[in-house]
Amino acid sequence: MRMTDIIEHKKQGLKLTGEEIEFFVKGYTKGDIPDYQASALAMAIYFNKMTNEETATLTLEMAKSGDMLDLSEFKNLTVDKHSSGGVGDKTTLVVAPIAAAAGCTVAKMSGRGLGFTGGTIDKLEAIPGFCTAMSPESFKNQARDIGLVVAGQTGNMAPCDKKLYALRDVTATVDCMPLIASSIMSKKLAAGAKNIVLDVKCGEGAFMKDIQSAALLASEMVNIGRHCQRNVRALITDMSCPLGYAVGNSLEVAEAIKILKGENIPRLTKLCIALAANMISLTKQVDLKEAENEAKEMIKSGKALEKLKEMVKAQGGDVSYIDDENKFGFDEYKTEIKAEKQGYISNIDAQKIGNICVILGAGRNVKTDSIDSKAGILLSCQKGDYINSGDTVMTLYSNDENKLKQAKELALNSFEISDKKPACNDIILKQL
Ligand code: URA
Repeated sequence: MRMTDIIEHKKQGLKLTGEEIEFFVKGYTKGDIPDYQASALAMAIYFNKMTNEETATLTLEMAKSGDMLDLSEFKNLTVDKHSSGGVGDKTTLVVAPIAAAAGCTVAKMSGRGLGFTGGTIDKLEAIPGFCTAMSPESFKNQARDIGLVVAGQTGNMAPCDKKLYALRDVTATVDCMPLIASSIMSKKLAAGAKNIVLDVKCGEGAFMKDIQSAALLASEMVNIGRHCQRNVRALITDMSCPLGYAVGNSLEVAEAIKILKGENIPRLTKLCIALAANMISLTKQVDLKEAENEAKEMIKSGKALEKLKEMVKAQGGDVSYIDDENKFGFDEYKTEIKAEKQGYISNIDAQKIGNICVILGAGRNVKTDSIDSKAGILLSCQKGDYINSGDTVMTLYSNDENKLKQAKELALNSFEISDKKPACNDIILKQL
């Protein structure tokens, strides 16, 4: 088999065979196929697409290109959740304990934040002592003991995707549906869970800016699951504004704890319940309404909070921070951004807020940047709220006065006030 023939086939719009896709993935992972041929194939896929079957084969081959976590001992009870990346998205910290308290096995590998979106691992590391680096053995032991473990990726997972994603980034082939879907799902398949709930974000603060492309991505990923014997559900959710009031690592952990203690945070609590209900319903094969009631009961009874504490203790974290989330505190320097006129908050730009958080020190520009866990933004209002002139719209926190000054300029332009009450999208736009 020759790589040039495979590129030629896709250039002509033909369907690639399983053998051709396997040849490409194995050869590219090993380094036998050079970047220039892989980028030619990616561009041919960009223009001529892939069938569902080709996308599923590519996904499975990329998953098999490295370590695959074997969670078969947990039978069909394992559940994973994936978010396509948002601003203020701390849902994993809430839904994982809820699903685990309801009897699911949540053995989840999460990532770090890059650019304007945050990552669960950075948030968990804001809990003093919390360890996110685990061997596959201790990861599985904890899943067995308490049914809940969230850690960074172990070993060498989906290395072909890692290489191909980096190549796509510099060859204008990132925004290609079959390549995005196979990239995300290859990592999910390698992480081993039988049931997967996807939160596909849509809006200004997300990768997918409109509902049509978000729905297409979601359906491609659900199809991949079907081909690969995984149960997958997808929710398309609004990401035009930040989720909740807190953006920044320790601020977000504190907000997640508040939800587990029963606080109703507009839109965020609703999303958490919907995600947790889907995780429970898919895993325990129960009706969605029943699963929703169970998710709410896990909060009301305190069982979900207890489960979070069990995980924090098992991974070496200081549980007293969960008992009293005020212990997280804030960075030394702060500045309040005030409204210059009265009216309704008609927009809070999620992407701008995410970028300001990077400046404040809460996120990364490049992978090697370190994180200031106490930096971030605490919003005082949400889209649709009425405020008076002089009211605080948000408070910025940083450990560096110069960063704070720079962020303040941008923060003044990150929201809009209007005389008319704006229409607010429901947080859940569509479900597949
Ligand atoms: N996230 C991924 O993991 N892969 C993509 O291609 C896009 C977003």
